[in-house]
Amino acid sequence: MSRIVYVNGQFLPRAHASVSIEDRGYQFSDGVYEVCLFLNGKPLDFHLHMDRLDRSLAALSINPPMGRGAFKVVMDQMMRRNRLRDATIYLQITRGVTRRDHAFPAFPPAPAIVMAAQRFNVAALREKQKTGVAVISTPDLRWKRCDIKTVSLLGNVLAKQAAREAGALEGWMVDAQGFVTEGSSSTAWIVDQQGRLRTRRLAKDILPGITRHVMGDIAANAQIAPVEEPFTIAEAQSAKEAFIASTTSSVTPVTQIDGVPVGDGTPGPVTRDLIDRHWRHVLRETGYRL
Ligand code: PDD
Repeated sequence: MSRIVYVNGQFLPRAHASVSIEDRGYQFSDGVYEVCLFLNGKPLDFHLHMDRLDRSLAALSINPPMGRGAFKVVMDQMMRRNRLRDATIYLQITRGVTRRDHAFPAFPPAPAIVMAAQRFNVAALREKQKTGVAVISTPDLRWKRCDIKTVSLLGNVLAKQAAREAGALEGWMVDAQGFVTEGSSSTAWIVDQQGRLRTRRLAKDILPGITRHVMGDIAANAQIAPVEEPFTIAEAQSAKEAFIASTTSSVTPVTQIDGVPVGDGTPGPVTRDLIDRHWRHVLRETGYRL
């Protein structure tokens, strides 16, 4: 973890940084977050992350604590002060600190903002992209506004923990109708038996992933435009290929679902092609070369 963190306008050594116990994020999970990846010291898809942050804040009627340019300046400072080139920056904004009461405070406090950086291990990601990962299915226990990137993540936490206990990397959450919504911290994709690239449509039951958005454009340019159609675990197990997509996993092949190999149990050609194309997107955006 980074040595220097950012808390409400100050860069501080982590050991000296603190937030109030009456922060509404702490008491009610009344706040939002973003995770931005920096490679080669440059942010990937920065404006898409900031657009989503704006939407999350607006959905909860929290005023942005600073403008986009200022966010960028603080993030750049975080990278520099922590001497990082490849890192994720976690950014969290809560409604702020007030006397505990469920409703929004009549006089809005200043939103509370924190940022922390974590070194990002590209080699570990590359390894997973080569071997593929296992996922398990788990019920989607979350609330009805999963499109807002709130810090309210207990459903996701339980899904990830179930995966970890089963020796898998990700939990694919399944809705009441038996369709996969998304992973606990990634979007879920398959290449079905007809060769169609499939992922669930955007709605209030999934997060509008930035990598999903970028991958959609990349795939369309490669003449494999995604079809927005949900799939069951059985369909995913009998698909030709499957993968997850997120800021920290890029595109990572899924080679096993609930213990059943996908295809021949190794990363398939469409997924490998999308991985290459995504790294080319990273190169264009950040100058990072594998
Ligand atoms: N997670 N779905 C969920 C539930 C997520 O938490 C994430 C990201 C994604 C992928 O979105 P994106 O491509 O914008 O990263 C989908 C981040 C990385 C996290 O919570 O750490």
